[in-house]
Amino acid sequence: MGVLPTLFKVARRGKCLLLLVLCLCVLAWIAAISSDDVVKESPFEDLKAIEESPRRELESEMIPSVEEQTLKESCPERSPLLRGALKLTFEASVTLEQVESENQEVVGGQYNPADCVARQSVAILIPYRNREKHLLYFLYHLHPFLQRQQLHYAIYVIHQAGDVTFNRAKLLNVGYLEALKDYNWDCFIFHDVDLIPENDENLYVCEEQPKHLVVGRNSTGYKLRYKGYFGGVSGMTKDQFHLVNGFPNTYWGWGGEDDDLRIRIQLQRMTIVRPPAEVARYTMVFHKRDSGNQVNKDRMLLLRRTPQTWKKDGLNSCSYNILSVNREPLYINITADIGQPEHAH
Ligand code: BGC
Repeated sequence: MGVLPTLFKVARRGKCLLLLVLCLCVLAWIAAISSDDVVKESPFEDLKAIEESPRRELESEMIPSVEEQTLKESCPERSPLLRGALKLTFEASVTLEQVESENQEVVGGQYNPADCVARQSVAILIPYRNREKHLLYFLYHLHPFLQRQQLHYAIYVIHQAGDVTFNRAKLLNVGYLEALKDYNWDCFIFHDVDLIPENDENLYVCEEQPKHLVVGRNSTGYKLRYKGYFGGVSGMTKDQFHLVNGFPNTYWGWGGEDDDLRIRIQLQRMTIVRPPAEVARYTMVFHKRDSGNQVNKDRMLLLRRTPQTWKKDGLNSCSYNILSVNREPLYINITADIGQPEHAH
């Protein structure tokens, strides 16, 4: 016999009307909770829509087509073009025209290996403002480096418009969201413009876990700065970056935003992997601290709050206006107005 008829029988006997009412309330409450569970949405529903929005036209001849994928073999696990440790040069006389003429297989900032299907499609994202010479050295070294790794890649330079305080992390969120309008990249490399890799065995591909590519740099004796350091150059898959809601948008000025991303990663129980120290070496092109990028004095305070703020401060709250997208021969130049710090209003 069912629960309800039994209860009614008991109630009819007039012994326990109150008990009946109580039971009905409990049943109604249980039903309400379970239906709540069914309609619960991911906090990132809007973000998903952006990530899956229609693709903008990237140089289509460079995009691996379905026929190409079936006709060509996949590139070997280890590229035969790798050379290991490289001697880097920084000639003051180098020009953009020269770098362009040396990289004619790069079209609209994008490259796709001619003879095999790349194992990963990688978007290199560079937060940028007023570092022309650094960008030139970067392009000069990085294009041949990435081609030797047989990657399908594009270089995106995300230029912060105006002269309010620099916001590296928000520019990288913009880069991720905009690059996904071009192509469904497997992997995103977040890259400072002044760091040049010294060894092409340092592979610009993503792993099962978020990857930090800078173990050492010339300016700090090639030592890892501290155990949790995640700055300079790091790589995450689309899914890994989505899972942590990207970078915070609220770090204006120098410092802290890379530590915030590491905390987000730890909160998702992911771990950071690094290539061996002898491979993950970089040369930092010398510069003084830029004006407009003063140390962020609030960073420690912000970092303490990350476990409470990460869900609402990130990709899903990144508001900006694109002022231009220029497809230069060697990079895609995105200029964005990303607003200003809240206390500056
Ligand atoms: C800052 C990081 C920076 C690191 C290394 C830390 O104190 O919070 O943003 O990358 O120092 O310079």
